[in-house]
Amino acid sequence: LIWWLSTRPPPGLPPGPGPALPFLGHLHLVKQDPRPQFRQWRRQYGDVFSMYIGSQLVVILNGYKVIKEALIKQADVFSDRPQVPLFSHVNLGEGLLSGSGPLWKATRTTSLNILRQFGMGKNLLAQKLQEEINEYLKVIASKKGQPFDILRLTQNSVSNNICSIIFGKRFEYDDPVFQEYLQALEVVLGTLSPTCVPLLFPSVRFIPGDPFHARKAISCIRTVMDKFIGPSIETHRRAYEEGSEDDFINAYIRQMKLHKSGLLATNEEKEFPRTITDLFAAGTETTTTSIRWTIVYFLHHPDVQEKCYQEVLKVVGTGRQPDIRDKPEMTYLQATIMEVLRIANVVPLSVLHATSGDVTFSGYHIPEGSYVVVNLDSVLHDREVWGDPDEFRPERFIGPDGKLIKRDEFIPFSTGRRVCLGEALAKMELLLYLANMIQRFRFLPPEDGRLPSLKSILGSASYPKPFDVRFVPRE
Ligand code: HEM
Repeated sequence: LIWWLSTRPPPGLPPGPGPALPFLGHLHLVKQDPRPQFRQWRRQYGDVFSMYIGSQLVVILNGYKVIKEALIKQADVFSDRPQVPLFSHVNLGEGLLSGSGPLWKATRTTSLNILRQFGMGKNLLAQKLQEEINEYLKVIASKKGQPFDILRLTQNSVSNNICSIIFGKRFEYDDPVFQEYLQALEVVLGTLSPTCVPLLFPSVRFIPGDPFHARKAISCIRTVMDKFIGPSIETHRRAYEEGSEDDFINAYIRQMKLHKSGLLATNEEKEFPRTITDLFAAGTETTTTSIRWTIVYFLHHPDVQEKCYQEVLKVVGTGRQPDIRDKPEMTYLQATIMEVLRIANVVPLSVLHATSGDVTFSGYHIPEGSYVVVNLDSVLHDREVWGDPDEFRPERFIGPDGKLIKRDEFIPFSTGRRVCLGEALAKMELLLYLANMIQRFRFLPPEDGRLPSLKSILGSASYPKPFDVRFVPRE
């Protein structure tokens, strides 16, 4: 009775799939990958529907119009994040990804200012990326056209870009501490389901067999903190000198010193390491996965690969490496990257939002503290918007005048106040990595011609299944 009373939908709630089960709510219906079920419920209930995870009400927003209305027009109510009990359990703050309210705002503004100051989206950073890409290309060349899985190498390299920004240094790919950190991060991100069960309900760690990987996630978060982030922050703090703001940590320490009595200094011991961790977590896996998806689509569409190569050849030639100043002329490559971000949709359900107050939305009543799923999949695969959403067609982003078409509905980085903080960095990384790879290598499947699957595995991101690829040097 208590259960029924606590999960009895209040009047006016968005429609949803009937009575919830004790303890599970509707979790048994959505499985590891809720996208197919969400598509069906959208057809059945419309663009706004609701369900329960345990006794927690979750509202799912679908379609560009509804998402824009919530995240832009009613941003005051829809821009919070749910509390994440697992992080307080491991003694971590809320940081960039899980914070809400004034503390999150101060953290976000400061982080974004520092990233911009270091040239995010500008030439200065592009130069650093180029050095890292050269190391990456060296390893690819050393494979001499033999097939291999590019996952770990790409994680190493992309993560090093964040390392350069945050610590002011890169790590050798075989550095044991770096490797341990990357493996731990991979476990945390790869094993978390999009329903965030272990994050939001840490008591699931007591279930024998650890079916939700909560115990595993906790131990990996501790590894990342105790062996990688924590010691680096300590070293920076000890060596800090006024005027040495040459990396993110030093620049942030300066801001905290400047605003001693302000928000940034609030709970500094927990919030600062968490913010650093968030930049790594959000910035490594997403870009790595996008590069891997682009390779997958290049293997399936050699014609698109060839067109990108011809464009690089025309714009850059072979006498020098592509750099960020070539961007405006690499229209087809940019359109291809956009199409990959659309079709592969690396963060298909965005990051969970929460309502900060009661709200009337689309004619429904949504109570304060509801969890909100921003279903980007419903926009990036919307048949009414794209016509043929399941076709891989970079041309859809090129107008009759040969210029890039900017479509409002293209929102792989989400929209509104919580829009991806690293969008500019990610776009720059994707363009530079891919232009440089294409210029030097032809991407081919293994000799038996086996193509990678186009089906994804959904964890904290939407990953391709493991695959091997050959990079054959171009003449
Ligand atoms: C948040 C996508 C790369 C840092 C997000 C969100 C999405 C996203 C969908 C959630 C927005 C929301 O809640 O509405 C992507 C994609 C990437 C990418 C597709 C690569 C192709 C990066 C990079 C960084 C980064 C390289 C590192 C600087 C963040 C942070 C947030 C975030 C810190 C949380 C922002 C907040 O809650 O205020 N990203 N991202 N992302 N992303 Fe990215």
